[in-house]
Amino acid sequence: MKIGIFTGSTYGNTRAAADRLEKLFKDSGALVTNHDIALVKIEKLLEYNVLLIGCSTWYVGEIQDDWHGKIEALKKLDLRHKKAAFFGMGDQLTYADTFQDALGILAEHFAFCGATLVGQTSTEGYQFSNSRAVKGQQFIGLALDDDNQAKLTEPRLQAWSSQLIKELELCLAIA
Ligand SMILES: Cc1cc2nc3c(=O)[nH]c(=O)nc-3n(C[C@H](O)[C@H](O)[C@H](O)COP(=O)(O)O)c2cc1C
Repeated sequence: MKIGIFTGSTYGNTRAAADRLEKLFKDSGALVTNHDIALVKIEKLLEYNVLLIGCSTWYVGEIQDDWHGKIEALKKLDLRHKKAAFFGMGDQLTYADTFQDALGILAEHFAFCGATLVGQTSTEGYQFSNSRAVKGQQFIGLALDDDNQAKLTEPRLQAWSSQLIKELELCLAIA
């Protein structure tokens, strides 16, 4: 299982979460490489079986700047046979109507490219009114909020990495 983390982050909040995920996955014995999306070509995604996609939400419902320039090239990739999980930073109180929209936007692009989406989480414990990251009753990935719930970031990262390790082992066992 070759895991690639790809993150866009303006102030470093999502980057810190990516670094922590890298450590948690490495500690579990996984082969994981951590990339800043600003510094790699989007085709780098093709080198991994599992993609952990990190992105904060900016400008009231937009994906973070470093992902912006990659989307047209992303749309051309064939991501069938890849599993993709999404994590992001947002601010549920100031941007309650667009909380974590970037996760939903990116997940739609990855699904269009054929990726299987994994790592959905519960919306319990958050306060917001609308989010493109919610599909059905759940977040499409892991929603982090260092602006309002910084103390929850570490336990959320630990729980999500454990959940993903289980989900991915299950997927591999079935494949
Ligand atoms: C101008 C501005 C717009 C923002 N828009 C949103 C938004 O629409 N939705 C949201 O959940 N968070 C929004 N945020 C909050 C950021 O996503 C949050 O501060 C995050 O921690 C930044 O992470 P980064 O350092 O990885 O880029 C916004 C922040 C700023 C300053």
